[in-house]
Amino acid sequence: MFFLLVFLLVTILFYWLSCIYFNPGDFPTYPGELPLIGHLHLLPSNSIELWNLIKQIADAGLKIGNVILVRFGFFPVYVITDPDDCYKLATGTFHKPEIVKKYSKDIMGNGLLFGPVSVWKSHRKLLNPSFNQKVLDGFMNEFNEQSKVLVKELENAVGNTPKDHRSSFERSALRTICATTVGVHINGNEIYSDKFLESFKDILTLLTKRFTSIHYFCNWIYERTKLKKEMDQLLKFTHDFTEKMLQVKRNEIANAPREEIKFLDSHYKPIIYHLLENENKTLSLEEIKDEINVIILTGFETSTNLIIFVLLLVGTYPHVQQKIFEELEEVFGDSDRDVTKADLSKLVYIDAVLKETSRYVPVVPLIGRVSTEDVQLKNCVLKKGYVCILMLYAILHHPMWGPDADQWIPERWLDPQRLPANPHAYVPFSFGKRNCIGKTYAFMSLKVTLAHFFRRYKVFSNFANVKLKMDSVVLRPYSGYEFCIQYRNK
Ligand code: HEM
Repeated sequence: MFFLLVFLLVTILFYWLSCIYFNPGDFPTYPGELPLIGHLHLLPSNSIELWNLIKQIADAGLKIGNVILVRFGFFPVYVITDPDDCYKLATGTFHKPEIVKKYSKDIMGNGLLFGPVSVWKSHRKLLNPSFNQKVLDGFMNEFNEQSKVLVKELENAVGNTPKDHRSSFERSALRTICATTVGVHINGNEIYSDKFLESFKDILTLLTKRFTSIHYFCNWIYERTKLKKEMDQLLKFTHDFTEKMLQVKRNEIANAPREEIKFLDSHYKPIIYHLLENENKTLSLEEIKDEINVIILTGFETSTNLIIFVLLLVGTYPHVQQKIFEELEEVFGDSDRDVTKADLSKLVYIDAVLKETSRYVPVVPLIGRVSTEDVQLKNCVLKKGYVCILMLYAILHHPMWGPDADQWIPERWLDPQRLPANPHAYVPFSFGKRNCIGKTYAFMSLKVTLAHFFRRYKVFSNFANVKLKMDSVVLRPYSGYEFCIQYRNK
């Protein structure tokens, strides 16, 4: 009894001191806060509940105010839903929250996505030219080849029963990322196995498990868990794969006559050349592997989810599918020729479908930042040192999109009057200098894939059945995402 009383008194004292120490200012709080624990009791136990909670917090932010507070025990977090406020933060603050860095360290080390600002600044500067339009144009051939492999592979999936086609699209996205950014073809290559793909996906699921189990925050506990053992096994698998790819590329460069490697003297070259030529100069081997892991993980998982969402939505709305067919007929006629760079700008409706899908179901619905200085926003000041959640999902469903913000309408992108005037309204790839380095890559490769896919096939689905979950930072469907693929002209 005595100990319980002491424990209670100490907790209250600690809470009182923390209220003085952690004083983020006077902001509306997300409903459901309890004394001492704040919103900790709402912490979900799995990735499905996590997405439901995020969506509810985003909706509350849009209703209650531009900035609201969520308290994880003693630690308050700012949740920001106003586009201009988010823009201000994202363009002035490059630090990511410590917890994210801590949890992702084993997976991506100090790679771009969650690396410390000091490393990120120099690596981003080094890698930006690799995502220049000139380099991306050079990938068109590979985008076409990989899309044709996918379309051929899907012949086996044609039928009247809805099926889970996810793995075909995942394999295709992974093959494309490896062939373009690392310059290694994994099709039929012994270094690749489907176990590798599974490992990458499972890593994200385990990461969410760790995030939603508060006791795993403590390294001492986490190090002793089954979860950690599983994670280590998966990581060994994915890191081995990266290492083997690097080895293949190194040998290729070493054995090819210099004049055959056309990129060597150019400032604009695929990422692998930038990385390898800086090995042991500005980059260590570890840093090179980290960057490759980041590019592969961020690239294939996001692109797969976006294309799956596109097919599920297009299959639900036959009039949209019809317009896609018409556009493809206009640009390609009856031909199944490769998509050229010039074709991409003519695929205006497919572009609208991609934009609207990435707005409606943003694959990365939120991002985090921590400011090292107080930040003046439109109506308030955020104090330095606190985690800020920038709710991209809320911005993409903000009332500025109009009364139909919660509907999927590709046509809105064809009429400037239907789009918000605010330049920070469309943010599925984030904003500021730490935005997505692969956004143009993603749209180019997906447009090519869709142009090949819809010249051959049509899809049938029902988006109303789709249920979503949040695996680490990525929004994925977890049920109801089966659909039918049928030949168009048979
Ligand atoms: C549908 C596709 C994609 C979406 C929705 C997406 C979204 C995002 C978002 C929102 C961020 C910013 C995170 C932040 O501000 O904290 C990001 C960062 C990043 N993305 Fe993407 N991404 C996509 C595709 C790709 C592709 C294809 C690649 C590579 C080929 C890629 C590579 C990266 C990298 C390296 C970063 C970290 C950038 C940095 O911190 O400097 N992404 N992505």
